Amino acid sequence: MTKRSWKTRILKLRVINCIFFILAVKAVIKLLTTCGIYNYSHLPAEVIETQLYKQISPTFITQKSKPDCKYDGVLKRELSISNWEVPKTFDDFSATGLVNGSFIPDHCTPMFSVAIIVAYRNRQRQLDIFLPYMHNFLRKQNIHYRIYLVEQQDEKIFNKGILYNVGAKVAIRDKFPCLILHDVDLLPLDANNLYVCANEPRHMSASIDKFRFVLPYDYLVGGVLALKSEQYVQVNGLSNRFEGWGGEDDDFSWRLSSHKINVIRYPREMSRYTMLRHPQERKNTRRSTVMKENKQDPSTNVKDGFTSTRYSSMHVKNHRLFTHVGVVV
Ligand code: BGC
Ligand code: MN
Repeated sequence: MTKRSWKTRILKLRVINCIFFILAVKAVIKLLTTCGIYNYSHLPAEVIETQLYKQISPTFITQKSKPDCKYDGVLKRELSISNWEVPKTFDDFSATGLVNGSFIPDHCTPMFSVAIIVAYRNRQRQLDIFLPYMHNFLRKQNIHYRIYLVEQQDEKIFNKGILYNVGAKVAIRDKFPCLILHDVDLLPLDANNLYVCANEPRHMSASIDKFRFVLPYDYLVGGVLALKSEQYVQVNGLSNRFEGWGGEDDDFSWRLSSHKINVIRYPREMSRYTMLRHPQERKNTRRSTVMKENKQDPSTNVKDGFTSTRYSSMHVKNHRLFTHVGVVV
């Protein structure tokens, strides 16, 4: 073999080793960054029913002839699906019972009215899965619910805080006592994950496949969060100061804790979600700075939030599968 070919072979080997090494380092970093809390603290399954916030919208006229809906059956349902079983198309979807994105069970009187608020922009493919999947899931739970799709209809940087504040305003105007703030890319996998409020806010998406079903950190409230409308108002909603991806949920977590409001979770077997894949949005590099500023100024909660949300225009339009709240920031 010539001297030259030996050199090329060694060089090739080195390049392959280097690539292998880089990939291995990347894998280790990824593993470490998603090494969250496996055994997070949660309410024992037996006490969950005693902690629920039974409240229906006062505008909702109950027909006394129907018996009260029961929920222990839902909470004890042992039906879960794996993330790969989630359908991606819904050709047979039926909108039976749905009016303006809301549903009321017809065989019993519900004990809960829940507004599901989804902050949204440019995720049509996810929405086409989210809406039929969620209606199929929720119609089995004997609850009165309504899905509000709050869409940012401009090209400015996405502002989830503003969208949630506007959605909460509309839902509270419609007299919903319970709000569920919901990412459009998260789908529940456990049928016993009852979509209602408890006395304390509940972080519902504690176990997401994207994070290997592990809670990334203890104070996380992002993804899916259920809380009473009065609690949302009490902490003055979300900060309007977070532009782009990330941070607004961590700030909200701090708002809750600084009001001494505890956040609970349910066991993993009731809290699993799959995340529909999408490219990572551009991260807000200022998110930790904004949060620090918010924490430093004790009057932040009062000055910035639900009561101070500003936008150029807003409209509400009813569709069969959702109530559309269009917002131009
Ligand atoms: C972001 C949060 C996000 C969390 C999990 C954090 O770095 O600030 O907004 O929910 O990561 O993805
Ligand atoms: Mn996402």
